[in-house]
Amino acid sequence: MEKLVKLDKVRYLGLSDFPTELVDSFRACLASEDVAVLQIRYNLLERWAERELIPYAEAHDIAVMAWSPIAKGALTGKYTPENLPQFQDVRSSDPIFHPENFSSVWELVKVLKELAEKYGKTPAQVALNWLMMSSPSVIPIPGAKNPQQVEDNAGAVGWRLSWEDWRMLEELSRKVLITYSIRY
Ligand SMILES: NC(=O)c1ccc[n+]([C@@H]2O[C@H](COP(=O)([O-])OP(=O)(O)OC[C@H]3O[C@@H](n4cnc5c(N)ncnc54)[C@H](OP(=O)(O)O)[C@@H]3O)[C@@H](O)[C@H]2O)c1
Repeated sequence: MEKLVKLDKVRYLGLSDFPTELVDSFRACLASEDVAVLQIRYNLLERWAERELIPYAEAHDIAVMAWSPIAKGALTGKYTPENLPQFQDVRSSDPIFHPENFSSVWELVKVLKELAEKYGKTPAQVALNWLMMSSPSVIPIPGAKNPQQVEDNAGAVGWRLSWEDWRMLEELSRKVLITYSIRY
């Protein structure tokens, strides 16, 4: 990997979905480079990265790319308990969109919609703004299916939620119950 950097084939080194122990082992093998970025699943519904990986990244000056930052669209407000991804959509088998889980997710989405109205933003922008305020190391990488979504997601920067609203979402998101061992 270091050779690739020296040869100008790649600019920086990054790891995706590595637990901290493996990040440590990888870094211990490097002589002249360091890991510049960790790519991690992180959104308002899935916050496991806060336990170890984000503190580790902050301590070692490593950037965090948050993948699925709007929970595959679940935090945008377009999916409702009555309008979930259909069976031909890969997300129909994602626990987040399982009807039993989504009723809990929906409680958070309703508040995202209220905040979106308050700030003149969209729920996706609010959810992305919350992530960026959570840590200066976090850079969300939202996926988009069309130019309108790209523009919408780009509107997550250049403004901030109040800390009161950030904390309210923080507390509410902890109450969302998602069961991953759910049967289909
Ligand atoms: N490192 C890894 O293991 C890993 C794993 C997964 C993904 N990723 C990366 O993470 C990035 C994004 O992740 P993701 O696509 O899984 O999840 P995401 O960014 O949370 O959700 C993207 C989906 O949400 C919908 N959407 C996006 N912007 C929207 C908006 N403004 N309004 C309404 N709906 C919107 C679109 O789907 P619909 O329009 O169909 O609803 C889009 O495909 C990608 O770059 C991907 O390569 C990395």
